[in-house]
Amino acid sequence: MQTPTSFQSFSPGDVSVQEFFTLMLNTIAPRPIALVSTVDSNGRQNLSPFSFFNAFGANPPIMVFSPSRRGRDNTTKHTYENVKVVPEVVINVVDYAMVQQTSLSSSDYPEGINEFEKAGFTMLNSDKVKPSRVKESPVQYECKVLQVIETGTEGSAGNLVICEVVKVHVSSSVLQPNGKVDLAKLDLVGRMGGDFYVRASGNALFEVEKPLKEPGIGVDMLPRAVQLSSILTGNDLGQLGNIKQMPRSEEMLEFKESSAFQELVQDEEDAEMLQLKSQHLAQDLIAKGSTYEALMLLLLTHS
Ligand SMILES: Cc1cc2nc3c(=O)[nH]c(=O)nc-3n(C[C@H](O)[C@H](O)[C@H](O)COP(=O)(O)O)c2cc1C
Repeated sequence: MQTPTSFQSFSPGDVSVQEFFTLMLNTIAPRPIALVSTVDSNGRQNLSPFSFFNAFGANPPIMVFSPSRRGRDNTTKHTYENVKVVPEVVINVVDYAMVQQTSLSSSDYPEGINEFEKAGFTMLNSDKVKPSRVKESPVQYECKVLQVIETGTEGSAGNLVICEVVKVHVSSSVLQPNGKVDLAKLDLVGRMGGDFYVRASGNALFEVEKPLKEPGIGVDMLPRAVQLSSILTGNDLGQLGNIKQMPRSEEMLEFKESSAFQELVQDEEDAEMLQLKSQHLAQDLIAKGSTYEALMLLLLTHS
């Protein structure tokens, strides 16, 4: 397994706030994007994207986003000011088809300017809150704001807006017949550092089998030489460690007599070479989904 060999280590105060902020934006990523609508005390609509955003519990359903204090002049954002007077928001998710308009809506328009109109989005009335929904967004969460926590008073400090979802609208265009969301159809985007985004569809989507109720054997149960292999990756070891139990001796015996195993060992005299060959073969087996066979092979060649 290849692991990093050297690190640059420092504390936040060792670099400028901007440098640390940039590091966070580049490395705490990809971030989901909340396209947040709010209203001011005069009922004027406001819309802005926030990627310091996530969900933090489902019962009750809680979401948090942070309209931060501006780094350049320590001013606060309209969204923050609005939720302090009208504690309601709609969190609209952002798909690939709306990413350019979402970016446009982040422009620093003067107070009272409706970014729905500036970005060319369509307002839809909400059922339980005053801010409008974004019609183009495939999923819209109407929320009441429970609490706003200011995490500092200096520029770039966060303002955590803690919201409870009171109603959700899911476009039927992203639903499967069984009522579940089709991730590929949802086609969400995430925010990276700088001007970069990621698109969660096509080859970017992949599955990792959950460790189920019964915990796996763990990487520490693999032979030491397997753990330290320069051929097997961390992902390979993770899958081997997720196997539910060590193979039984009868299974191992059967596998040892199989033609695949016999072919591997027959013309390999050197034990070290055999181990390397078996690690390559195990990697191929894992890639094909035959992780259990890979484990038996590695146990036999590294005993
Ligand atoms: C994709 C994206 C994500 C953003 N995330 C944040 C964020 O998490 N926090 C923040 O303060 N500003 C964020 N911004 C910048 C705000 O959207 C921008 O400052 C906006 O003008 C705020 O609008 P407001 O003053 O109407 O609230 C983001 C911009 C984009 C394009």
